Amino acid sequence: MWTKTNHESLSSTEQWDRTVANLGQLLAADDHQITVLANAAAFLFETMPRLNWAGFYLFDGSRLVLGPFCGKPACTAIGMGKGVCGTAAETRQTIVVPNVDAFPGHIACDGASRSEIVLPMVDVQVKLIGVLDLDSPDLDRFTEADRAGLERVRDIIVERLADRPILAF
Ligand code: SME
Repeated sequence: MWTKTNHESLSSTEQWDRTVANLGQLLAADDHQITVLANAAAFLFETMPRLNWAGFYLFDGSRLVLGPFCGKPACTAIGMGKGVCGTAAETRQTIVVPNVDAFPGHIACDGASRSEIVLPMVDVQVKLIGVLDLDSPDLDRFTEADRAGLERVRDIIVERLADRPILAF
C-alpha cells in the first residue's frame, strides 16, 4: 500500500523515482478505470506542492469531457484544438505553460491558475484517451524534471487503464 513519504531531502530525480514507484503501488492491477483515474488525480494533488488543480479530460470521440480531478469545479467540455488541453490532445504533445496569460486561447477554469502542464494520453493502438492536466497558482511552476517525471506518471496511468473494466450503470 502506498504511504506518503517526506521528499524534502531528495533530489528532483530521486523524488520522481519515488513518486513513480509509489503510484505504481497505489494503482492496483485489477482497479476499474475510474478508480485508476480518481486515485491518480488525488495522489498527484496530494504529493505535488503548489497545485490548485489536478485531473483528467477524457476524449469521447469528438471532444474532451471532464474526468476525475481534485480542485475547484471545472469546465465540463473542451473542443479539440481549444485551450491548452485541446491543443495538447490535438498535437499529442506535452505542453508546459509557464504563464497562462501568455497562452492564446487558454481556458480559465480557476482564476487562481498561473501556470499549467498538460500531457496527452494515448493507448497502445495510438488512440487518444484524453489528457492529464495540472494547474498551479505560481508562475513557472513546472520544471523540465517535472515534465519528464509526469510523462512517466502518465505512462503508468495509461498502462493501468488498459484492459480494465469500466463501470456499467
Ligand atoms: N486551462 C485549461 C482548461 C482546464 S482547467 O485548467 C482545469 C485549458 O486551457 O485547456
